[in-house]
Amino acid sequence: MPANVAYRLIKDELALDGTPALNLASFVTTFMEDEAEKLMTENLSKNFIDFEEYPQTAEISNRCVNIIARLFNAPMDDAHAESLGCSTVGSTEAIILATLAMKRRWQLARKAKGLSTENPNFIMGANCQVAWHKAMRYLEIEGREVPCTKELLYMDPKKAVALVDENTIGVCAILGSTYTGHYEDVQTLDSLLEAKCKENGYDVGIHVDAASGGFVTPFTVPNLVWDFRLPRVHSINVSGHKYGLTYPGIGWAVWRGKDYLPEDLVFRINYLGSDQASFTLNFSKGASNIIAQYYVLIRLGKLGFTHIMKNLISNADYLSDQLEATGKFNILSEKSGRGLPLVAFNLKAKKVYNEFDLSSKLRERGWIVPAYTMAHELEDMKLVRVVVREDFSRNRSEILLRDILAAISLLDSLDEKALESHRKYRRSSARHRHRSALSPNAAPNTKGKAGKAKTAPGVC
Ligand SMILES: Cc1ncc(COP(=O)(O)O)c(C=O)c1O
Repeated sequence: MPANVAYRLIKDELALDGTPALNLASFVTTFMEDEAEKLMTENLSKNFIDFEEYPQTAEISNRCVNIIARLFNAPMDDAHAESLGCSTVGSTEAIILATLAMKRRWQLARKAKGLSTENPNFIMGANCQVAWHKAMRYLEIEGREVPCTKELLYMDPKKAVALVDENTIGVCAILGSTYTGHYEDVQTLDSLLEAKCKENGYDVGIHVDAASGGFVTPFTVPNLVWDFRLPRVHSINVSGHKYGLTYPGIGWAVWRGKDYLPEDLVFRINYLGSDQASFTLNFSKGASNIIAQYYVLIRLGKLGFTHIMKNLISNADYLSDQLEATGKFNILSEKSGRGLPLVAFNLKAKKVYNEFDLSSKLRERGWIVPAYTMAHELEDMKLVRVVVREDFSRNRSEILLRDILAAISLLDSLDEKALESHRKYRRSSARHRHRSALSPNAAPNTKGKAGKAKTAPGVC
């Protein structure tokens, strides 16, 4: 078909997608400046892995790693030392690579002592993102989850350290829980783990999953100690496409130093024209996101990031206060920068309708505000989450608030029968009939082993 017809056909079909700016479900960036988009377009045809052909792109990627590692206080021998890290497609790839490094490091140490390497385990909160379930399953590691409770919706470091044994390859701490935005207490985890390691002769490291918080806390709460300032923190991941303010998919993995990334995982190749090191799951990938990330870093600097992140916190606080003032909602997220700039809330009173009905009513106005259940063992707790991003202004927040209240007042007027017919319509509508290409005959699987929901669909 002619190019213009193919273009029109696809463009028209895509008009049925949601509007990215109204997608409050996701942390992922939906706005970049024209200059960044121009750079991305100009570099779309570059394959990042061709270091010899595109040496400046490789240089820019190294600069990003060095900026991010220094932001996370990686120990450096001197001001010009090169830090150790790599770009990835997102935090999931970074998490898988970091977990692999921890597993290999543990295996090498155990083998050297003639001990078994059969049963590695990894400790994390039950509130961990699906990336961790992937890492455990793909790398054949037993994932030991610390259950969340109504009182503590994220990982308790004491309970985590109690699960550590000689087969533990690492402990994950989340800087910005996907469910509620809470920052886990990495400092306490570090000291408890240090004591346990000393007592038992273990050497277990912490990986900080700073997918969202890595580009927030250094600017909003710089005194919060969670990064390489803590000696047990061996590696950190961050998503450039979340609060790194870059379009998807870009993430970063950084290590404390070369002792924490076993040499044999890094591939040395020379068939692209020069000797180069590669530690990635994929080989080829686009270079434009890396270039766009560098644009954001140099364009904003620390001061620019500080202004933006503080503004996001103030907008999230505003929305949170306004929702609380209605008397209709419990606020489950933190305020004043003690958590990510988001608002997680649920209904205060028991009603015939629930948070999923609210979410679906808001969808009719174009808002994508997900409802989901808390981490497993707390599945009876439903919540709604609004992620406050750079393109979510105070004005937009006021319109959302008005629409939330209008939706609640409409839901209040429905009886159970009317509500059920709304739900039936919702279930039969096209977007709920979506089937994954990997499982054409089944709905996308979001269930864990025991049939429990592991991750809220659409929450990432
Ligand atoms: C805490 C956490 N870890 C990992 C991920 C996965 O990140 P990505 O989508 O960059 O792979 C997310 C995504 O929301 C997250 O919130």
